[in-house]
Amino acid sequence: SPSDPDLVARARAAKEKLGDKVFVLGHHYQRDEVIQFADVTGDSFKLAKDAAARPEAEYIVFCGVHFMAESADILTSDDQKVVLPDLAAGCSMADMATAEQVAECWDVLTEAGIAEQVVPVSYMNSSADIKAFTGKHGGTICTSSNAERALDWAFEQGEKVLFLPDQHLGRNTAVREMGMSLEDCVLYNPHKPNGGLTTEELRAAKMILWRGHCSVHGRFSLDSVNDVRERIPGVNVLVHPECRHEVVTAADHVGSTEYIIKALEAAPAGSKWAIGTELNLVRRLANRFASEDKEIVFLDKTVCFCSTMNRIDLPHLVWALESLAEGTLVNRIEVDKETEAFAKLALERMLALP
Ligand code: 13P
Ligand code: SF4
Repeated sequence: SPSDPDLVARARAAKEKLGDKVFVLGHHYQRDEVIQFADVTGDSFKLAKDAAARPEAEYIVFCGVHFMAESADILTSDDQKVVLPDLAAGCSMADMATAEQVAECWDVLTEAGIAEQVVPVSYMNSSADIKAFTGKHGGTICTSSNAERALDWAFEQGEKVLFLPDQHLGRNTAVREMGMSLEDCVLYNPHKPNGGLTTEELRAAKMILWRGHCSVHGRFSLDSVNDVRERIPGVNVLVHPECRHEVVTAADHVGSTEYIIKALEAAPAGSKWAIGTELNLVRRLANRFASEDKEIVFLDKTVCFCSTMNRIDLPHLVWALESLAEGTLVNRIEVDKETEAFAKLALERMLALP
C-alpha cells in the first residue's frame, strides 16, 4: 500500500533532525513503508553485525522483532539505546521456549546422564534468556545463514546438540547439510514430562530438537510445492529453512532471506521462481525484478505476512523518531547485565565462527 505522504514527510524530517545520532535497521520482512527509512536492511545475521558496527549512533531504531532488538542491545555499548517502535512486535517462535522450560529440559538431560555431552545451539530467534542459557552451557547462537557452521562447531565441542527453539531449522540443517538421518533427531516437547522422550531415546539421539516452529513458514506444505510446479512449468522453488522438512526436501534451493535475495539477483532473465518465505519480502522482490523479466511468485495461494513483523508500521516509526528527535527516549529494549553477559558470550561465539 502506498505510504501516507504526510507521515513520510514527518519521518524524513525527524530522521534529518537526528542525523548521525540515529541508525535505523530494517529486517527484510518489514513493510515497504518502513523499509524505505532503513539505513541498512538485512537478515538477522547481517543486522546483528551492522548494529555492532555503529558505535557513534546514540539510538538504534530496530525495525524488526523483539529478539532482534535484544540482540542489538547485547552487541552494542551500554550508552547506545535500542528502540523497538512497537513493543508488541514479538515472535511466536521465540515465545515457544521460556527460561523455565529450558532449565527443566537441562534437568532432564542431566538426569539422563547426558548433559555433559550436550552443546546447546540456539537460533537467533529466541529471547535473551535463552541466549544466556546457551552461553552459560558452552553453546553458540546461529542464524539461518550460518546454522551449518554452528553445528559443525558444536559437534567439535560435544557429541550431542540441543537445538532451540526451531525444530525445522535444526532438522533441515542436520539432515540436509550435515548428512545426518531423521533417526539421529528426537523432538523434545516442553509440555510433556521428560520432553515426551524415554531416557534411551535421549541417549541415542545426536540432535535433540526443541518443539518450536515459525507459524508463517509452517503454512507452506508439500502441496504448495506440487501445486506451483504444476501451475508454472520450469519454476525454481526457493524456500527458507524454517519451512517443514518435506517442503525443504521438495524445494530446489534453501536459504536465509539474504540468500534468497542474492539468488534472485543472480538469476537469469526469463527464469521463474516460487519463494517460500514472508510475503512483504516476496512482493518487494517480485516488483523489483519484474523489469528484468524474472517471474517471482509466492509459494502458497493464500497470503501470509508475519503479523508481528507487520506491527512496525509507518505511524509507529514516525512516533518513535519524532519522540527521539524531541529528546524523549521511548520503547527502549534493555537486557539486564547478567543475562547480557552470558548471552553476549553465545553471540560472540557465533560471530567468531569460521
Ligand atoms: P533470516 O532473516 O535470518 O533469514 O530469518 C528469518 C526470520 O524468520 C526472522 O524472523
Ligand atoms: Fe518469528 Fe516467524 Fe515472524 Fe520470523 S517470520 S518473526 S520466526 S513468527
